[in-house]
Amino acid sequence: MHKLEIISRSIINCSNCQLSTTRIHAVPGEGSKNAKVMFIGEAPGKNEDKNGEPFIGAAGNYLNKLLEIAGLIREDVFITNIVKCRPPKNRDPLLHEIEACSQYLTDQISVINPMVLVTLGNYSLKHWLPNESISNIHGNLVEINNLSLFPMYHPAAALYRGNLRQIIEDDYKTLGQYIAKHIN
Ligand code: URA
Repeated sequence: MHKLEIISRSIINCSNCQLSTTRIHAVPGEGSKNAKVMFIGEAPGKNEDKNGEPFIGAAGNYLNKLLEIAGLIREDVFITNIVKCRPPKNRDPLLHEIEACSQYLTDQISVINPMVLVTLGNYSLKHWLPNESISNIHGNLVEINNLSLFPMYHPAAALYRGNLRQIIEDDYKTLGQYIAKHIN
């Protein structure tokens, strides 16, 4: 079995924190084991919990459009979250839940070894850059600990703050240009 599949199975059977008692499905993430670009959101929502797949609700539909703007297709990237189980009523994940889950993300990154990590929203950004703010740094490549991070607004942000839509789409154009120059 591929190492990524072993990690997914551990996540599906995980009981490291209390989110395991309220979830329907854990959501390990999905995509290519050879992905050069990895997208990391916050935590599964209702649809993701129901189906066990990341980003399949309204934010996921918009993410698909954003991937297209960057010249990417979903099957070629890997999409996961900081926290793999849905927090009840979509509340923010708690610090100890993030900590209980973080080894899974570390292991996924080390097995996939992507060239760029795209962080989606504040939780994901703050995992690497706790003092940075998304409004300041979005759409810019940051090198940290041998990782290339590309912080982005969470796609859901555009759904409730319509004025962000153009900014977000411009950021994905920038990501596409970076990928065309450095990766493909
Ligand atoms: N929002 C996230 O951060 N992740 C998902 O998987 C779905 C919505």
